Amino acid sequence: MRKPIIAGNWKMNKTPSEARQLVQELAPLVADAQCDVVVCTPAVDFAAVSEAIRGTNIKLGAQNVHWKESGAYTGELSAAMLKEAGCEYVVIGHSERRQYFGETDETVNLRTRAAVAAGLTPIICVGEKREQREAGYTDTLVAYQTLTALTGLTAEQVAKVVIAYEPVWAIGTGLTATDEQANETIGVIREAVRSAYGDAADEVRIQYGGSMNPKNAHGLMLQPQIDGGLIGGASLKAEDFSKVVHFE
Ligand code: 13P
Repeated sequence: MRKPIIAGNWKMNKTPSEARQLVQELAPLVADAQCDVVVCTPAVDFAAVSEAIRGTNIKLGAQNVHWKESGAYTGELSAAMLKEAGCEYVVIGHSERRQYFGETDETVNLRTRAAVAAGLTPIICVGEKREQREAGYTDTLVAYQTLTALTGLTAEQVAKVVIAYEPVWAIGTGLTATDEQANETIGVIREAVRSAYGDAADEVRIQYGGSMNPKNAHGLMLQPQIDGGLIGGASLKAEDFSKVVHFE
């Protein structure tokens, strides 16, 4: 069975001192979690957070990674840098990066390959915009996004990645996909993985993201295809995030 994974995506929130405080509050609240617990923080918070999570069950993640090992790429961070700073996970291809920073399916693939090669677990984000859902090509789009992101990986590597299905219209809007909508589209993503990587599809963990919170987490997590959540706003308060982590 797939172990659920609940990850907070802090986005551009929390200075190092705020980050330390949040994680110190969070640690005792999630110590008994049955799922994997991850916080994906701004890079300036890595030192404070990796120190604060020592000896806890909380894992650290980044929000982006460059695909080159090193060189003249001002402002970028390599996978080796993230590893040495204590990261085990990295969010790749978030819709905000696609929307505001020119991220494409091809650069998502380059980042994914670099992350996997360095031993980081990528959390690869896919999802449709509202007009794409209304036009009826959600399934085609998420399958394409997923398979493009994974191109070049082996089935064994694919089995270990995390995919986050985040419908763009549900992010930060208070609108959530219904439990059934999320389950159905995640099922489509899993079948796309199966078409190229066979049984790895049964191991790959696929999260839902988009206004997931203490109120709706239980229903979403009851769905058979949904293996966890990628949480934005509700991950910025220890108590709320802990409630999502305890979705039972
Ligand atoms: P919200 O939970 O704030 O809608 O954000 C979801 C998200 O984008 C997580 O990556």
